[in-house]
Amino acid sequence: MTALKNDRFLRALLKQPVDVTPVWMMRQAGRYLPEYRASRAQAGDFMSLCMNPEFACEVTMQPLDRYPQLDAAILFSDILTIPDAMGQGLYFETGEGPRFKKVVSTLADIEALPIPDPHKDLGYVMDAVSTIRRELNGRVPLIGFSGSPWTLATYMVEGGSSKDFRKTKAMLYDNPQAMHLLLDKLAQSVTSYLNGQIMAGAQAVQIFDTWGGNLSAAAYQEFSLAYMKKIVSGLIRENDGRKVPVILFTKNGGLWLESIAEAGADALGLDWTCDIGNARARVGDKVALQGNMDPTVLYAKPEAIRTEVGRILASYGKGSGHVFNLGHGITPEVDPEHAGAFLRAVHELSAQYHE
Ligand code: CP3
Repeated sequence: MTALKNDRFLRALLKQPVDVTPVWMMRQAGRYLPEYRASRAQAGDFMSLCMNPEFACEVTMQPLDRYPQLDAAILFSDILTIPDAMGQGLYFETGEGPRFKKVVSTLADIEALPIPDPHKDLGYVMDAVSTIRRELNGRVPLIGFSGSPWTLATYMVEGGSSKDFRKTKAMLYDNPQAMHLLLDKLAQSVTSYLNGQIMAGAQAVQIFDTWGGNLSAAAYQEFSLAYMKKIVSGLIRENDGRKVPVILFTKNGGLWLESIAEAGADALGLDWTCDIGNARARVGDKVALQGNMDPTVLYAKPEAIRTEVGRILASYGKGSGHVFNLGHGITPEVDPEHAGAFLRAVHELSAQYHE
């Protein structure tokens, strides 16, 4: 494989020295970019982009071509590919978000769920990873990803997005054994899916626990963190002569950082509700940190964006172990010029914090 020309993202995740703080954006390939909207129109719809490795590669590269400051690429796909491969029938209703044809409601439904084989059932994702690696040609590292078991379970039990997770929470408290069986099957599926991505060329992986922060403190430990721990312990951690860092991102997990830092991952993703300097004081000797600008700051003018970037860099302070990112995905309404101002500010203002 070609040597990496820019490895500051991987170095920061392992707390090795860097020249400037590396940066990427969750959802960096997405609807705020006109070139993304054009590719999606050409492909027909969102899932056709994901399922065609050439299209997935094309949209993965779009933000990198527009913004030379980006220090990582992220596989273009979705977390809901796993439930789809388990036979749930994923589809997207325009403006409505994801939906499933089949909903998981009973223990019998859960017992019947297969564990997908990444190569047979999710081969299009593996092909996208290897196609993107070839196209990147060592420019920046490629991030693979999956949803956490708990986050995937919410979509499977609700049949789509939800505001209150009514059915999922009822199952958790009425029938914890059924919920544990579902989460265990998902943990097995996620482990082999991420290992497949790593063997296909993903150089770091991130687990998106988007809805873990919606659980009680006790339920988070038992129904989300325990399964992420199990996944982390089953992942391939070195490939092609390099460490493959693992990032855990529990949105709204700020109260539980100490216990998340014990899960065995290399880095924690932070949303914008916690102060990154305070988070570093709590867990910084164990893990690197990724985050955490409020994505809505990008609606403000470039001067205000720059001020906020400076505030977060100062709060983290000197030294490596910080990957700059938004605290959640960039939204479709953001002006691409503002995203550019954000990325430039991170590199320009961070040099003073590194030797
Ligand atoms: O970050 C990246 O650039 C990689 C691509 C990526 C997508 N989804 C593309 C996408 C990643 C990492 C995801 C993860 C994902 N998908 C999560 C976890 C991350 C998070 O946001 O917390 C979740 C919960 C999903 C499920 C999902 N996919 C929802 C709820 C939606 C609809 C919501 C919306 O924004 O409209 C999607 C669709 C989706 N996934 C889009 C993209 C670019 C928009 C689809 C479109 O083009 O219309």
